[in-house]
Amino acid sequence: MSILVISTSLNPQSRSRVAARLAFDELASRGVDSRWIDLRELDLPMCDGGEAFAHPGVGTVAEAIAASRAVLLATPVYNFAPAASAKNLLELTGKAWEGKTVALLGAAGGSNAYTAPMLLAWSLMLDFRCVVLPRFVYATGAAFGDDEIIDEDVRRRIADLSVEVDRVSAALGAGP
Ligand SMILES: Cc1cc2nc3c(=O)[nH]c(=O)nc-3n(C[C@H](O)[C@H](O)[C@H](O)COP(=O)(O)O)c2cc1C
Repeated sequence: MSILVISTSLNPQSRSRVAARLAFDELASRGVDSRWIDLRELDLPMCDGGEAFAHPGVGTVAEAIAASRAVLLATPVYNFAPAASAKNLLELTGKAWEGKTVALLGAAGGSNAYTAPMLLAWSLMLDFRCVVLPRFVYATGAAFGDDEIIDEDVRRRIADLSVEVDRVSAALGAGP
């Protein structure tokens, strides 16, 4: 089973996407079977608790999550929290996450909201029994150049996160 990397930012100039892509490339360079989903390409509806679940994009991403052994989830930080697009994804795909190992990565303007990505862990752990890695990456605007990460420490942390999500999910298996 593969590791799924999901970029949840809807911004055409997304920085968290750049970080997620680095994680994806790191996994690929290590020979890890991995898949990539960019939510900008799926045009997901807002979760309404009803008809939204039938949207074809929801099925696409839910099936990819369910088929993975782990997910690396990248989110923008908006208003001191993960962006609505990331939470909406969890609302739309719910049970597909059951038992997955999850790694979190966030991009923010500044450092004040540095625990924001972990807010996703509440639902992942308590609703869906995910094993959320006890490390995450939080990258501020200062870490980025034009379409690349220029901060070597952030690059190393992303590489470490990629290694860890592979190691832990391989040890645990895919869950139920
Ligand atoms: C609506 C909105 C709210 C934001 N709120 C915060 C915030 O609370 N803290 C912060 O550090 N940056 C904040 N930012 C800056 C974003 O985190 C930053 O632009 C980041 O790169 C977003 O990720 P993305 O580029 O992948 O979309 C906000 C940006 C927007 C558009």
